[in-house]
Amino acid sequence: VTLEDAVRLDAADPLAFARERFRLPECVIYFDGNSLGAMPAATPAALAGTAERQWSDDLIASWNKHGWIDWPTRIAAKLAPIVGADPSELLIADSTSVCLFKLLAAATKARLGRGTIISQKRNFPTDLYVAQGLADMLGLRVKAVEPDEVEGAIDADTAVVTLTHVDYRSAAFYDMRAVTDAARATGALVVWDLSHSAGAIELDLGGSGAELAIGCGYKYLNGGPGAPAFLYVARHLQEELQSPLQGWMGHAEPFAFVDDYRPADGILKFLTGTPSILALAALEAGLDTFEGIPMRDLAAKSRSLSQLFVEDVEARCGDEVRLASPRDPAQRGSHVVFAHPEGYSVMQALIARGVIGDFRAPDLMRFGFAPLYNTHAEMLRAAEILADILSSREWDQPRFHARAKVT
Ligand SMILES: Cc1ncc(COP(=O)(O)O)c(C=O)c1O
Repeated sequence: VTLEDAVRLDAADPLAFARERFRLPECVIYFDGNSLGAMPAATPAALAGTAERQWSDDLIASWNKHGWIDWPTRIAAKLAPIVGADPSELLIADSTSVCLFKLLAAATKARLGRGTIISQKRNFPTDLYVAQGLADMLGLRVKAVEPDEVEGAIDADTAVVTLTHVDYRSAAFYDMRAVTDAARATGALVVWDLSHSAGAIELDLGGSGAELAIGCGYKYLNGGPGAPAFLYVARHLQEELQSPLQGWMGHAEPFAFVDDYRPADGILKFLTGTPSILALAALEAGLDTFEGIPMRDLAAKSRSLSQLFVEDVEARCGDEVRLASPRDPAQRGSHVVFAHPEGYSVMQALIARGVIGDFRAPDLMRFGFAPLYNTHAEMLRAAEILADILSSREWDQPRFHARAKVT
């Protein structure tokens, strides 16, 4: 594939217009939108407007005047077409880890008497830690199995299965329908972590029978560092499930100020405390970058980008790197990982040359492709720089070996 081919693909890209929705530094190839989405061009004005015209001018009246009180559901509605859910099944709240705790706890409570939470070995750490903490508290056990053992491990003792849909390292993803069906057959619930799925691939939570899910706001959804997370509870479970973090915002009448908790109807019962309005303003700008974007086109572009990158890296770097993601683009999310024994240093050298990806222990260089702003030409340019760094051993310098706190 030549640069001309890549330029031709970019010229025919139906999503090319979306890159202007972002403010990206010049001379940077940003392949870390799966960790921290690039800043939408509209975000600074959204934050400034919320601060200056709402908070500053209208002070506390803003909760009514600007409808702040409804933002967790109003903004969640913008997520609905991205994940294939009904707006009434989604809520923006808390952080990813906290949302996971809430739904795992609600699900185990709803399946009282069952002793096991099933998860996957090498799941994202927070997912395992949250499950372990909850299990300790309730006297349950966490059984973490290999990905291909999940369905077989589900039995009558399983209260909940919790899985990251698209693996944060390999980008392999689960068949949501198959796992959900296996769990439902025994009466267990499934909580999906969609952190590397939402905004990256085509999702149909409703159509695949998913019942519970959570996900991250600051990755592909471009909500800004530490953005609020989201949770999804299928309508038929909203009545049955109870929030384990009962707060006044999830009360049926928060402003009645009564002593006894009475849950709000529907998804609202999963709110806990006062929503973070400035963070929600940024998340809304992030979700608005998906306006008018058919998720099918986005997924197709994701596969086209990653496939070009994989082919070009393998053609240029040969055996020096090993693809540690599924080879079939239909089997992976929107990132790819390549293993290299000195992956950390190679990634630091790449970053120094303006190609920003990240490193995941023990030896994985991770490259995330955001179809809203990455281009085919960037795939070739980055592969060329990587090949150059490897052949010249540019990575083998003390400054690239020093481990930073965040990798
Ligand atoms: C699968 C997954 N879950 C959760 C998180 C992060 O959770 P939190 O936003 O609470 O830090 C990440 C972050 O990379 C992740 O990859």
